[in-house]
Amino acid sequence: MKHRSILITGGAGFIGSHLVRHFVRKYPDYRIINLDKLTYAGNLANLKDIENCPNYRFVKGDICDIDAVLALMREEKIDAVIHLAAESHVDRSIKDPFTFARTNVLGTLSLLQAARTVWAELPEGFEGKLFYHISTDEVYGALQMTHPQGIEPPFSTAASSGGHLAYGDRFFTEDLGYDPHSPYSASKASSDHFVRAFHDTYGLPVIVTNCSNNYGPYQFPEKFIPLFINNIKHRKMLPVYGRGENVRDWLYVQDHVRAIDLIFHEGQIARTYNIGGFNEWKNIDVVHLLIETVDRQLGRRPGEDESLISYVTDRAGHDLRYAIDSRRLQSELGWEPELQFEEGMELTVRWYLENEAWLDNVTSGDYLKYYDEMYGNR
Ligand code: NAD
Ligand code: TYD
Repeated sequence: MKHRSILITGGAGFIGSHLVRHFVRKYPDYRIINLDKLTYAGNLANLKDIENCPNYRFVKGDICDIDAVLALMREEKIDAVIHLAAESHVDRSIKDPFTFARTNVLGTLSLLQAARTVWAELPEGFEGKLFYHISTDEVYGALQMTHPQGIEPPFSTAASSGGHLAYGDRFFTEDLGYDPHSPYSASKASSDHFVRAFHDTYGLPVIVTNCSNNYGPYQFPEKFIPLFINNIKHRKMLPVYGRGENVRDWLYVQDHVRAIDLIFHEGQIARTYNIGGFNEWKNIDVVHLLIETVDRQLGRRPGEDESLISYVTDRAGHDLRYAIDSRRLQSELGWEPELQFEEGMELTVRWYLENEAWLDNVTSGDYLKYYDEMYGNR
């Protein structure tokens, strides 16, 4: 296997930590540099098991600090970037859009500029280099719910097996125009445009992937699934936005990581791939499944905690339905998700219930104090 020196940004976050672990373990000949600012969403406890691996290095830093990125890329002779660092929570973006523009737009621009500068200095130039940008399906906007009772999906995967339904007849394909609605999705859309512009203008070798909602261990408990698991456990109310009718297309985080690995190695430069398992669920149905699963795993009567459901004011600009068409990735590169949603939820609930210390630590914010002591105030 060819040696590679890969800069993964945002590697202390949810998806990033799964990706870092996967690459460090699977590719001992690769050097993996994890650049992360350790915001509230970054947590080195996510990577405890690999922190001493010889092919791994953690660097605390901000992707907006272009001089620091340039120095790191030169020092580590980086030949590929997998860029995940971002502000990622829609509700926070509604309260504080500027932070999203700074990190997601300006941060991506500074990384692009650093990669272009450093690689242009080399005799081989951009040959063998890759800037892989991780994005979201939310850039495509919202789909209509033409079949609220659900229809047979035109395709199925392991994730959606078990006869799961589609709630509309249109899906996000790679050639759909962008139509973001939240400050989060607008900032991700903007970053995607910059990545493609760097290819079209300067010839930078780039790949962009747009993935549907991920779930699994180590997701920060402000997001829907871990928040609700934690609340059911503590018998706190479950704030369902609107009527709970919004539809999301859920993918287990390891299936996303496997897709990134495949695309990193075999994807075509300048191509976009959508990643998703054709696994649409109404929020309220996810809530029922979560209550049943948490109650059962805790030895409570399954469904006992249904009374915690509380319908609250809807999120501003709440996108109705997301549904990814991932047939390009399936047919061109042979990717398939491995896990069915119910199995993934079983594993996820078990992980959160078994990793009480992790959950209590991130909900109390103690880990932030620890980082301030270790690395100085941010
Ligand atoms: P996350 O919020 O869990 O983690 C983000 C990480 O980025 C954190 O470790 C944080 O410390 C770091 N970070 C934030 N600002 C930074 C900065 N200025 N410099 C350096 N590091 C910084 O996010 P996630 O859910 O793991 O998402 C990772 C990426 O995948 C994001 O780009 C997101 O848009 C994309 N994505 C997420 C999902 C999902 O369902 N979670 C789906 C599709 C795409
Ligand atoms: P979220 O995990 O924030 O992901 P995204 O908004 O990026 O899709 O939310 C998933 C869905 O769950 C979304 O439709 C909003 C809804 N939701 C609630 O109903 N209540 C909540 O407390 C949260 C955080 C989300």
